[in-house]
Amino acid sequence: MSGTVAEEAREILRSARALVVELGEEGVEWTADAREAAAVRSAGPARPAPGAQASVPPPTAPVAASAATAPRTPGRDAPRRTLESVREDLGECTRCRLHEGRQRIVFGDGNPAADLLFVGEGPGEQEDLQGLPFVGRAGELLTNMIEKGLGLRRSDVYICNIVKCRPPGNRTPLPDEVFACRPFLDGQIDAVAPRVIVALGKPATSLLLGRDVSITRVRGTWHDYRGIPVMPTFHPAFVLRQYTAENRRLVWEDLKAALARSREGAPQ
Ligand code: URA
Repeated sequence: MSGTVAEEAREILRSARALVVELGEEGVEWTADAREAAAVRSAGPARPAPGAQASVPPPTAPVAASAATAPRTPGRDAPRRTLESVREDLGECTRCRLHEGRQRIVFGDGNPAADLLFVGEGPGEQEDLQGLPFVGRAGELLTNMIEKGLGLRRSDVYICNIVKCRPPGNRTPLPDEVFACRPFLDGQIDAVAPRVIVALGKPATSLLLGRDVSITRVRGTWHDYRGIPVMPTFHPAFVLRQYTAENRRLVWEDLKAALARSREGAPQ
């Protein structure tokens, strides 16, 4: 194949891949796996954490103004749950089928009083083995973005997932699994009371926004979860798969915006 033809072929392949990703995000179902993945999108908001004071806000709220002024739940200085008590409530959980295949529960990691809280989808293989979120390849990228990009230590932020046990084959968590784990995610958010939540990828963003989203459309825009500003961005695993300068730039923009917002009004 001549250089030009090969380059054209590569370009067609790149475009086709991008189209498949975009159509997948738009809910086009290709395979049994994709149908499972789509199922989580219709999970919608589940019940709030035990003792939670607010329900899920109207999902469409474009937040620019509202999240900045809305009272946070339950309030940074109010007495609130601790991560230890949420972890204790979770126990050696058998609430859904995911416990059957897990090696370890992956609860969360980082600063219990972090200004920035990252929510991913669910543990992968390395996370399941080590009991820590985002320690595989996607985790390495996330850690680099936090440390080299934002100039923070990973231990300055808090990182957790929608579900705390690894879904088989790293599939997207199913609605009943998300539902079973939701009180613990809400408990973590209440306990940490971050200034900003970064939602990594479509499932985390759809869950927090209470509606099925196209991550390509909503990333980079402000939303709100129980009074806390939410910045959706691409999942690091997606960025690894589509490792383009443009995708890296977009995530970088989103993370910078999240950091800046988390510092607004914070004591110097
Ligand atoms: N992907 C996630 O969503 N979470 C992890 O902890 C690791 C990979």
